[in-house]
Amino acid sequence: MLKMLNLAKMLIIFMYLTSICCCYFVSSQSVSPQNTPSQDTSQDIWYTYEEPIEGLKLYKTYTLKDGTLMIWMAFEDEEDPSCMLPYFHLRLIEKTGQITYIDLNYTFPPEAVCPINMTFIPLNYNYIMIIYVKSNNGVKGKYGLIINYNSEVISEIYLGNVNDYITDSGRLEKGFIRIEEHDKKGIAAWHWLSIPDITIGKVVELGSGKFSVPNLLSYTFVNSFNFSLIDGGIGYAYILKYDEMGSSATNDPNIQYWKIYVSFIREGTYLPTTPSLVYQTTTKLNSIVFNSCTYNNGVGYICIVSLNNTITNRNQSRTEVNYYRLEFLTTGAFIQFDMIPKEISNTSDNFQLSSLIYGGFLVRKYHTNTTAMDFYILDNNGNYKSGGSFGPEFVLYNMFPRNGTLLGIKRQTGNKLEFLLKPIFRLNNQGAEYDNPVIESTKPAVHEFIDSSINEITIKYGIPVRLSTANISIFQRNGDPYKPNLLRQTISGNSKLCTVGSDNHTVHIPIFSSTFNQPNSSYYVVIDNNFVISQERNEPLLGIIQKTWMISTKPFKTRQHSVSVTGLLRLNEEGSSKFLQTNQSEFFNNIIQAFSKIIPVNEQRITTNGKWKNDPTFPKRVLLSFTINEAKSAMELSSKTIFDNMGTLIKRKGFTALSNNEYTSLIDESAAFTITLSMVILLILYFLARWKNPEGRNFAIFETALIMQDLAVDLTFTLLRVNNTPHLVIPNMVFLIVPHIVNFLLTINIYLSEVSTNPMFFTWISEIPTLLLSICAIFSAIDILAINTLTSNLFGLKVFSAPLSQRSRKIILWGSFINIFAEDIPQLIIQILYYNSVETYDLFPLFVLISGGLVIVHKLILRSYHVIVRWYHKRDKIREFIRNRRLSAGSIRSIRTNV
Ligand SMILES: *[C@@H]1O[C@H](CO)[C@@H](O)[C@H](O)[C@H]1NC(C)=O
Ligand SMILES: *[C@@H]1O[C@H](CO)[C@@H](O)[C@H](O)[C@H]1NC(C)=O
Ligand SMILES: *[C@@H]1O[C@H](CO)[C@@H](O)[C@H](O)[C@H]1NC(C)=O
Ligand SMILES: *[C@@H]1O[C@H](CO)[C@@H](O)[C@H](O)[C@H]1NC(C)=O
Ligand SMILES: *[C@@H]1O[C@H](CO)[C@@H](O)[C@H](O)[C@H]1NC(C)=O
Ligand SMILES: *[C@@H]1O[C@H](CO)[C@@H](O)[C@H](O)[C@H]1NC(C)=O
Ligand SMILES: *[C@@H]1O[C@H](CO)[C@@H](O)[C@H](O)[C@H]1NC(C)=O
Ligand SMILES: *[C@@H]1O[C@H](CO)[C@@H](O)[C@H](O)[C@H]1NC(C)=O
Repeated sequence: MLKMLNLAKMLIIFMYLTSICCCYFVSSQSVSPQNTPSQDTSQDIWYTYEEPIEGLKLYKTYTLKDGTLMIWMAFEDEEDPSCMLPYFHLRLIEKTGQITYIDLNYTFPPEAVCPINMTFIPLNYNYIMIIYVKSNNGVKGKYGLIINYNSEVISEIYLGNVNDYITDSGRLEKGFIRIEEHDKKGIAAWHWLSIPDITIGKVVELGSGKFSVPNLLSYTFVNSFNFSLIDGGIGYAYILKYDEMGSSATNDPNIQYWKIYVSFIREGTYLPTTPSLVYQTTTKLNSIVFNSCTYNNGVGYICIVSLNNTITNRNQSRTEVNYYRLEFLTTGAFIQFDMIPKEISNTSDNFQLSSLIYGGFLVRKYHTNTTAMDFYILDNNGNYKSGGSFGPEFVLYNMFPRNGTLLGIKRQTGNKLEFLLKPIFRLNNQGAEYDNPVIESTKPAVHEFIDSSINEITIKYGIPVRLSTANISIFQRNGDPYKPNLLRQTISGNSKLCTVGSDNHTVHIPIFSSTFNQPNSSYYVVIDNNFVISQERNEPLLGIIQKTWMISTKPFKTRQHSVSVTGLLRLNEEGSSKFLQTNQSEFFNNIIQAFSKIIPVNEQRITTNGKWKNDPTFPKRVLLSFTINEAKSAMELSSKTIFDNMGTLIKRKGFTALSNNEYTSLIDESAAFTITLSMVILLILYFLARWKNPEGRNFAIFETALIMQDLAVDLTFTLLRVNNTPHLVIPNMVFLIVPHIVNFLLTINIYLSEVSTNPMFFTWISEIPTLLLSICAIFSAIDILAINTLTSNLFGLKVFSAPLSQRSRKIILWGSFINIFAEDIPQLIIQILYYNSVETYDLFPLFVLISGGLVIVHKLILRSYHVIVRWYHKRDKIREFIRNRRLSAGSIRSIRTNV
C-alpha cells in the first residue's frame, strides 16, 4: 500500500519536476536520422551510496537543475507504515560526487509525519525550505522551516492554509510562490515571496494578486493548471466549459464547447497578464486534463493535454483518450495543437509523456503489479527511436532533464543504495557540453585554461538572437560547499555592455579586469534563461546552469612587485550619512572585510588609518582613506593589482558583488578610487625643510640627521624592498656593508691616533660619559662625517667640542668622499634599477631617487667646498711662510701634512 502511495507520489513529483525543470525539445529540422539499438546499456553507470546512519530508509528522491540528486532518508514508523519518525535527513549528491549530509536537530509535529504531510523545495544557493503541516491553537496551517546545507535551522515561517501550493518561481534566486486553492469560479490568489534574508532568514512578500477568469456568459470553470516559467514566474491555465443550461442541448455547430486560457505572472510587474485564449473546440468532449507544461527552447511552452472523448458511431459509442500537444508563446499567443500519435497513448498502463530538451518525447510506462519501468524515445512525429527498461528491483525513478539521464534506484539493502544512470538517446547532440542544444560554441571553451587578462567572452548560438533582460554571471568556485561561490561579475543582457555580433548569432560579453584575478583558480559562467531571446519568435532561450561552463586561469607569470599605496574612495550620500551616524571604525572595518571577500584577498592587505574627510566638490559625500599593503611574497597579488581591482570593482559596482554587500553598496561608483597625494606633499615639505638652511648654526646636527635619514632609507630598502628583486640583493649588500666597515675602521683609526698623540683629545674624552661616546662611535661608523658633529661646538656643549687634530679632519674629509662613491652613488643606482623593475603608481619612488641624488650632490658640493677652503687655507699658510722665510723645509712638510 505504501509502495503504491509512493508510486503515486512519485508520479506527482515527476510531473512537478518536469514542469519545473522543463524537458524541452527542439524543432524537427534538428532531428538526426541516426538509428541506435533499442537497448544500449554501454553507457549505463552504476553508483552506490552508503548511508552512515543505521536504520535510515530511502523515502524519496529529487533531482535539481544543476545535476544534484537529493535523497530523502527517514526512519520508518514501525507501528504505522504511513508515518515516519519526526526527523529530517537529506543527502545531496552533487554532479562532482561530493555528498552533503543534512541531519536536522529538529522534531517535527505529529501532524507533519503521521500521515506524512511534509515536503521541501530548494531555495537559493544552500537553503532548503521544508514545508509541513502544523497545528497552531487547533488550526492546521502550512509552515516552512528554512534550513541550510549546514543542517542549521534559519527560521520558521507561516506559509498559509494547508491546501496552499508552494512552488519555486522557476528561478531559485527569485524566491518562491504560494498559490491558494482556486474558488469555484477558478479565481486563485497568489503570493510571491522573496528568498530568505541571509542573517535571520526573513522572507518578505514581493507581490500578490489573483488569477481571475474572464467572466464569460454561459461558460463555467472546470479546472486549472499551473506551471513554472523559465524566466521566473508562473503560468496559470484554466479550462472553461460551455454551459448547456440543463437539458436543452443546443445543436449549434459553431458553439465552442471548451476553451483554454493562460495567464502569466512575472517578476517586476507582479501583475498577471490578461488571459489569452490558447485553445477552443466545438467538440463535446467529456473532459480536458493538463498533464504537463514545459518550455521548448526558442519555441514556447508545450503542454501535454489529454482529451477524453466519446465517439458515437451510429448506435455504438466508444470512449477514448487522446494526447495532444498544445504550444503557445510566452506572450500567450497560440502556435499549434497537434495530436500525439495514438501508439503512445494506447499503451493502456499508467504512463507519462514529456518533451525532451534534445528533441522528441520520452514515454515512461509503469506497470500495475511491479515497480519496473519501460521507457521509449520518440521523435517529434511519434516514431520510435530508442528505448530501455528498469527491472522490478528498482523502486524509485528520477530524471536529470538537462542532460537527459534517467535514474533508477534499487530497493535498499541494509545501508546500501544502488543507482543506475541511463543516458537517454538524443535526437540532436549540439550544445551537449552546455546541456543546451541552442548553444553552438563558446569562447573560452568548456574547461579551457585562460589568461587572466582576457577582456571578453563570446557565445555562439545556433539561431539568430537578441539580447534580453536576464543576466550572465561569472563565479569563482570556492572549495567550501557551505559557502556561496564568489560572484565576479554579473551583466544583464540589456545593459549595453553586451553586444550581438553582426552575424546575429554571437554574443560578446566584456570581462572586467577584476574578474579573473586569481591564478590557478576555477571559474564558471552562468547564463540565466532569457539572457537572449530568439530573433524569430522573441522567445526566451535557455541559458547555461551553474558549474557547466567551467574555465580555469593559468598560473600567472612572475609579476612585478609593487609598493603599498594609499587611496581614497567616496561614499554616496546615503553611505556618507550612514557613515557619519555610526561607529566609524566599525564602518571602515566592514568595508575592508567586504573588499577582502570580494577581491578576494587576505584582510591584512587592506588597512586604514581611519582618516576621512568631506569631498570638497561634493560636501555631502565623504572620502575614506585606505592603504593597500605590499605583497609579502610573489604568490600574493601585488598591491597595484589589488588597487586596480578595487578601482574596477568600484567603477563597475552595479555589475559586481560590491552592490550586494551592505557596506560596499554605499560606495559612490561615480568617483574613481584615487591615490592620495599626502605622501608626496609630505616629501615636498621634508625637502623644503631639509634644504632650507644648510650652512646654519645647526648645520652639523642637520648633517647627522641627513646621514641617519639616508641610513633609514637604505635599511628600509634592504629589509623590505630589495628582496622583491633577487638580482639586486647581493650588490645591495656589498654596497651597504663594505662602506660601513671602511667607515668603522677609519673611525677606530682616528680615535686611536687622537688618544695617543693629542693630549687635549684625551682630556676631552675622559670628561664625557661613555654611553654618549659609544653612540658617537656608532654614528661615526655609519658615516665618518658624523664625527664632524663632535667638533661642531654645537650649543656650546662640551660633548660637541672634540679637539681633533688636522690629520683626523683630513681623514674625515677623504672618508666622506669614499662614502659618496662607494655607497651613495651605487645605492642610488641600485634603487634606480629596483624602481625600474617593480610597478609603482605614485611619485614616491621618484622622490626617493631625487632625494638620494640630492644627498650626493649636497655632499659633493660641500666636500669640494671644504677641499677648496682647505686648499686656499694651505696656500695662504705657505705664502705666509714664504713671506716670513723663517721656517725650515721640514716644517713646511709638516704644515702640508697637517692641512
Ligand atoms: C547527467 O547528470 C548527472 C547528474 O549530474 C550525472 O551523474 C550524469 O552522469 C550526467 N549524464 C550525462 C550523460 O552526462
Ligand atoms: C539539539 O537541539 C537542542 C535544543 O534545540 C540542544 O539542546 C541539543 O544539544 C541539540 N543536539 C545536538 C546533537 O546538537
Ligand atoms: C496533509 O494535511 C492536509 C490537512 O490535514 C490534508 O488535507 C492533506 O490531504 C494531507 N496530505 C497528505 C499527503 O497526507
Ligand atoms: C497548482 O499546481 C499544483 C501542482 O500541480 C496543484 O496541486 C495545485 O492545485 C495548483 N493550483 C491551482 C490553483 O491550480
Ligand atoms: C473518460 O470520460 C468518461 C465519461 O466522463 C469516463 O467514464 C472515463 O473514465 C474517462 N476515461 C478516462 C481514461 O479518464
Ligand atoms: C443498433 O444496435 C443493435 C444492437 O447492438 C443492432 O441490432 C442494430 O442493428 C443497431 N442499429 C444500427 C442502425 O446499426
Ligand atoms: C505482473 O507482471 C508480470 C511481469 O512482471 C506480468 O507477466 C504479469 O502479466 C503482470 N500481471 C498483471 C495482472 O498485470
Ligand atoms: C541581423 O538582424 C538584423 C535585424 O534583425 C537584420 O537586419 C540583419 O540582416 C541580420 N543579419 C544577418 C547577418 O542575418
